[in-house]
This record gives sequence, structure tokens and C-alpha cells, in this order.
Amino acid sequence: MPRTLLLSLFPTMFLLSCSKNDTVADPCSGVSYAIQYFKTESIGTSNNGTISISFPVGDTISYSLNGTSFQASPAFNNLAPGNYVVKVKNQKGCTDTAQFVIFNYGPKYALVKQLISGVGGTGGYCGPCHLNGGSSGGKNFDTDASIVSSWDRIKARAVDNIPSQMPETPNSPLAPADKQKITDWVNAGHRQLD
Ligand code: HEC
Repeated sequence: MPRTLLLSLFPTMFLLSCSKNDTVADPCSGVSYAIQYFKTESIGTSNNGTISISFPVGDTISYSLNGTSFQASPAFNNLAPGNYVVKVKNQKGCTDTAQFVIFNYGPKYALVKQLISGVGGTGGYCGPCHLNGGSSGGKNFDTDASIVSSWDRIKARAVDNIPSQMPETPNSPLAPADKQKITDWVNAGHRQLD
């Protein structure tokens, strides 16, 4: 390479590499959302799982599921069981992602899960004593696996009152229709997919 060319290029390269860091601040630096959401599982073969993002929300935020185009609504419906990635984007184009799983519940199990845990972990018959880390009598029902493996004790205590009623007195016992949901699930095979 002719020496004159090298000499004329050198200051340009130097300037370019210098100016990059000095003038262009990353608009997404420090943008990191603690994405919060509420989901419901897919029941039977209906592929009807849902997710609704509760944070971040607002006019300037949009949402994409598994790489689909961004939408203004923070809710996605009709989800098949499986693994998902939700991406949120603000008005500057900065993004953050969260991963979640939609489980497959059998219709009978879905009813039992709901009476134990309520919707979104609140309002069921078995909290707070056995939910959100609570483990009265050594039993915690936060996971599906823990409910499925305790099917016989759940029936004994909440349906047959053996040796005593659950929810423990003085709380109300289960309504007959709710006891029936447990009995139906147990008779169907007491699995997550029943
Ligand atoms: C207000 C608190 C409270 C609520 C609500 C409650 N439990 Fe319990 N549970 C306890 C306590 C306390 C124990 C330990 C004493 C005992 O076993 O009687 C216990 C123990 C248990 C055990 C373990 C002992 C065994 O017999 O295997 C099971 C299973 C159980 N509960 C099921 C349930 C179910 C199912 C529900 C909801 C339908 C429920 N409980 C609601 C307080 C509660």
C-alpha cells in the first residue's frame, strides 16, 4: 500500500473508533423489566391456555409471543401446552423477555386444582395453610406434582373427613359439589391429565 494512502486513512479510522463510544449512548442501557404475568393452563385438548402480562403495561409498551409481531394488548389466548417466550418492548425499541410454560390439565384435575388453589393462587380452600410455601402438617400444594402425589390424603381429609375435616375447623368444609369434584378426579385415575 502506498505510504500516502496509509497516512491519510489512519486519522479517519482513529476518529471513527473514538467518536462511537463518546456520542452514541445506548438508549436501552439499564432497561430491564421484572415481567409479571398471570397464566391459565390448557384444559384437555382445547388448547385454551392464556397469559396476561400485568407488568409492564401502558400505552408505550407492546408485546410479542414466540417471535410473532408486536401487539398492544398484553393478553394472549388459545395457547397450546408448551414453552413460550414473551417479549415486551418500550417506545424506544428496548426489549426484555420472560419464559413461561403452559401446562396441560385434564378437565377433572383443573377443577380440583382450582378448588385447592383458587385462581392465581388465591381464594382456594387450602390456603394459606398449604399454599405459597405454607406446609401445615407437612403438606404444601404449590405444585401440580405435590397435589397429584397427595391425592389419597386430599380425598381422605377434604371429602371423607378422616381423621378430621380439611380445611381444619373452624373453617367451613367443602361444599358438596366441590367434594364431588375431588371424588370424580380420584375415580378417573387421579392424574394431572384426568
Ligand atoms: C386453616 C388452615 C388449613 C386449611 C385452610 C387447610 N388445612 Fe390441611 N392442615 C392444616 C393443619 C394445621 C394440618 C396438620 C394437622 C392435621 O393433620 O390435622 C393439616 C394437614 C393436612 C394434611 C396432612 C395430614 C394428612 O392427613 O395427610 C393434608 C393432606 C391436608 N391438610 C389437606 C388439606 C386440604 C386438601 C385442604 C383444602 C381442601 C386443607 N388441608 C386446608 C391446616 C389447614
